[in-house]
Amino acid sequence: MINLALPKGRLGMKIFSLLSDAGYFFPEMNDDTRKLFFEDTGHNLRCFWVKPFDVPVYVERGVADIGIAGKDILMEREPDIYELSDLKAGKCIIASAGKIDFIDEPSRTLRVATEFPNITRKFYAQKGRETDIITLRGSLELAPVLGLSDVIVDIVETGTTLRENNLHVIEKVAEISARLTANKSAYHFKGEAIKEIIRRITQ
Ligand code: PRP
Repeated sequence: MINLALPKGRLGMKIFSLLSDAGYFFPEMNDDTRKLFFEDTGHNLRCFWVKPFDVPVYVERGVADIGIAGKDILMEREPDIYELSDLKAGKCIIASAGKIDFIDEPSRTLRVATEFPNITRKFYAQKGRETDIITLRGSLELAPVLGLSDVIVDIVETGTTLRENNLHVIEKVAEISARLTANKSAYHFKGEAIKEIIRRITQ
């Protein structure tokens, strides 16, 4: 049996469709269920829904043999796991963004709100820019609007959320997409079964 950690939410639903299109079938899974795990016994695949940020935790500790995580989460957490395949789903960017009339004054500490403090710290450290990083858990676009921060570092997919809150992209930080990751020892012992899943969902 291969255990697969799926990220709850938009990306997870896209990956679930990829699995269904690849011929996996989960009789326990339907729109109304609140069940967090489900199996395709014919293909020896057990899936479970976890918070996107937690996928690498399950994989690193071996509770999941494999997991689907956004590159943003892998960059932020830097887990000790294998990143095996770019699934090319959930494509977006991480970018810095601010109010249209914001002018950066390099002599002042830049206040940055983000869900990704490590990515943000590294990005500005490379530029030698001093920052005060404010870690939030969502609705980041409010921060510059209300004056909590000068800019944000956040996921931008369609750009709609920025536009509707009168913000714009200042700089791209990284390109993001979904990655299939594996626990290192599981990949050693179950490598063939894992490769078969990758082959099916990427063909
Ligand atoms: C993400 C991100 C932006 C939005 C960008 O938030 O934090 O707010 O999506 O998407 P867009 O460019 O297509 O508008 P999400 O919806 O995941 O919720 P969150 O605010 O709880 O992070």
